[in-house]
Amino acid sequence: MLYSLTRPLIFRLEAEKAHNLALSAMALLPAGTPAAPDPMLRCCIAGIDFPGPVGLAAGFDKDGLIAHKMHHFGFGFAEIGTLTPLPQSGNPRPRLFRLSDERAVINRMGFNNQGQIAASRRIASMRREGRVIGLNIGANKDSTDRIADYVSGVRTMAPLADYLTINISSPNTPGLRTLQGREALNELLRAVTAARSADVAAPIFLKVAPDLAPADIDDIARCVIDHRIDALIVSNTTISRPPMRSPLAGEAGGLSGAPLHDLALTRLRDFRAALGPELPLIGAGGIATADQAYARIRAGASLVQLYSAMVFEGPGIAARINKGLKALLRRDGLSNISQAVGMDAPRP
Ligand SMILES: Cc1cc2nc3c(=O)[nH]c(=O)nc-3n(C[C@H](O)[C@H](O)[C@H](O)COP(=O)(O)O)c2cc1C
Repeated sequence: MLYSLTRPLIFRLEAEKAHNLALSAMALLPAGTPAAPDPMLRCCIAGIDFPGPVGLAAGFDKDGLIAHKMHHFGFGFAEIGTLTPLPQSGNPRPRLFRLSDERAVINRMGFNNQGQIAASRRIASMRREGRVIGLNIGANKDSTDRIADYVSGVRTMAPLADYLTINISSPNTPGLRTLQGREALNELLRAVTAARSADVAAPIFLKVAPDLAPADIDDIARCVIDHRIDALIVSNTTISRPPMRSPLAGEAGGLSGAPLHDLALTRLRDFRAALGPELPLIGAGGIATADQAYARIRAGASLVQLYSAMVFEGPGIAARINKGLKALLRRDGLSNISQAVGMDAPRP
C-alpha cells in the first residue's frame, strides 16, 4: 500500500539512485526479532531450518546492509552478495534499467561491492537469531586465478554463512560463465569443497544461468552430484531477449523479472529431471505471485527467491506470497510447504 503510493516518485529517479534510496530507507528499520515461523511455511533444506520459503535473491543487498531486516517484510531468508575478495566499483553507470511495461529489469552492474573483508565485519555484528542469511561469492573482474578467488571466498565467508552460494552465472563479468563448463566446474567444485573445513561446514549452493543447452545441464548435474553440492539455485539473469516493446530491451546485461519467468521455470524442470528428486533446488526468475511461487515449488523447488518483482511491487510482496501460498496449501489439503515440492515433477 505504502509502496504503491510512493512508487511514482521512486520511478522518477534513475534506477540505481532509487535502489540506493530503498536500501537507505530499509537500513533505518530496527533489526527486530522475527515472529515465530508459520508451521505451514517453515521447512528444513540442506540441514537449515528456513522460517519460510520466499527469499531475497542476491544482488539487492550486495554488501550486507539490510539482509537481517528482511524478515519484517515476510522474507524467510536473504542472500547477501555477490561479494568478491577485493572491493570493486563495477561497470560504468548507467548500468541498471527498469523496463516498467514489461515488469523487467536489465542490469550490467558487474559485481560492484565493498569486498569480503568489509562485508564480513558488518555481517559478524548482525543480529542473526531466527534468520537465515546466505552469502553469495564471486571472483574479481581482474583476477588472474578465479578459482583461487572462490577458495579464498569460502575461507573468509563460511564462518559467517548459514549457506554459501558459488555464483558462476553472472553475465556481467566477462568469461565467468565459462566456469559452468564440465572441466572448469569440476576443478572449481573440487577446490571449493576442499576449502570448506570440517569445523565450518556451511552448506554450499551453486547458482547457474538459465542460458544452458541440454548437454550443459547434464554436465552440471553430474558435477553437482559428484562433488556433493548441497543445493542448486536456478537461475540467474538471462542474456537472451524474449520479444519486448521497451526501447531499453537492447541494453547489454542480464534480464530478470517477468520475461525470465518461463525460461527459469523450464530450466528448473530440466535440472529436476537431470538430478532426480533428491537434491534441493531453489527457484528464481520472474516470480511475482503466490501462484508462480507455488508452481515453481510443485515443479521441484524447495525454496524460491525473488528480486525484480520487488522493484515493481515493493518489499511487501514476500508477505503477500506467503499468504497466497498458505491458501494454495489449504486448497490442496496440505499442511506444510515441503509436501508440495515436486508434486508436478514427472516420477523417475
Ligand atoms: C540489479 C540486479 C543485480 C543482481 N546482482 C546479482 C549478484 O550480484 N549476484 C547474483 O548471484 N545474482 C544477482 N542478480 C540476479 C538475481 O539474484 C536473480 O537470480 C535474478 O534477478 C532472477 O530473479 P528475479 O527475476 O526475481 O529478479 C541480480 C539481479 C538484479 C536485477
